[in-house]
Amino acid sequence: MNILVTGGAGYIGTHTLVELLNRGHGAVVIDNFTNSRPESLRRVREITGKSFALYAVDVCDEEALSRAFSENAIDCVIHFAGLKAVGESCERPLAYYRNNLDGMMSLLSAMGRHGVKKLVFSSSATVYRSDVPMPVDEDSPLGSINPYGWTKFMCEQMLRDVVAARPDWSVVLLRYFNPIGAHESGRIGEDPSGIPNNLMPFITQTALGRRPALRIFGNDYPTRDGTGVRDYIHVVDLALGHVAAIEYAEKNAGCEAFNLGTGQGYSVLDLVGAFERVNGVAVPCEIAPRRAGDPATVYSRVEKAEKMLGWRATRTLEEMCRDAWRWQVKNPNGFAE
Ligand code: WQD
Repeated sequence: MNILVTGGAGYIGTHTLVELLNRGHGAVVIDNFTNSRPESLRRVREITGKSFALYAVDVCDEEALSRAFSENAIDCVIHFAGLKAVGESCERPLAYYRNNLDGMMSLLSAMGRHGVKKLVFSSSATVYRSDVPMPVDEDSPLGSINPYGWTKFMCEQMLRDVVAARPDWSVVLLRYFNPIGAHESGRIGEDPSGIPNNLMPFITQTALGRRPALRIFGNDYPTRDGTGVRDYIHVVDLALGHVAAIEYAEKNAGCEAFNLGTGQGYSVLDLVGAFERVNGVAVPCEIAPRRAGDPATVYSRVEKAEKMLGWRATRTLEEMCRDAWRWQVKNPNGFAE
């Protein structure tokens, strides 16, 4: 199939492009490079030996987006493009609603005009209420506690309504848990701009000596060791979940949500310990106050994706730690140089 990938230059976008291209799919990439660099796409071409069309445009620019559809025969869309920092969304809620909701509406409008009826959407575990029993399955109560999560919730609702009006559309909602790690080549990986929000890039930058210490946000949670528990999933497993999702969309109309996680929760201290053990490096840590909005424990039930997509995560926490470190060591400043 020929896949239009919005946000294709990002962390999950590049890893998904590699798996799509390696399986003979075509790709057309849309990216405005606000949170990514063209170098990441150059490396995707290097890893796969394949090329693809690139439109350096904003997904909210409906006219530019329309050109990508009219100049290419698109079979399916994977929509990654969006603002995704939880903390930033609390500081800039309107920017998040504007970008994430306008982007979705612009994309759906362009798809409708060009007769493209298959979409895989990059959703998030933040659409689940965090005050519900864990693990969460796809029928767990929805509701967020930050604007970023609400934009994902609202985009999901928009998609459910579009499919109700257009039953011949195929929409797959992929709810990511915590993606970490990198492609085994070490040529692509997570490259946050500025101070990392997420745990793993902070660990790798601390281990490299770019940061003096990892601040652990709270060790008084009701968990095994007091630190936050999350469902970490290897980014390549996540990418393969998208390949399974477009194959599912090709055969099934309707709107379905799937958790992309491992079903296993690990604490911050579990992850730091595994990282130090696997890579033979030290990660200096200090305990800091809890971070606002952080739930104690979040992890997934994963049976639905296995049953309906024929997909499940297979890579271990150790592989996630090893691959994340290889990327960081080979690229001390990410894609910057
Ligand atoms: C993980 C754990 C922190 C940093 C968010 C979004 C989610 C998705 C992934 C986009 C928590 C602790 C972290 C640090 C720490 N993003 N931590 N020190 O918050 O679970 O999920 O990112 O889709 O939607 O909500 O991920 O990596 O920020 O935190 O102690 O410097 O690590 O408290 O327990 P999170 P995270």
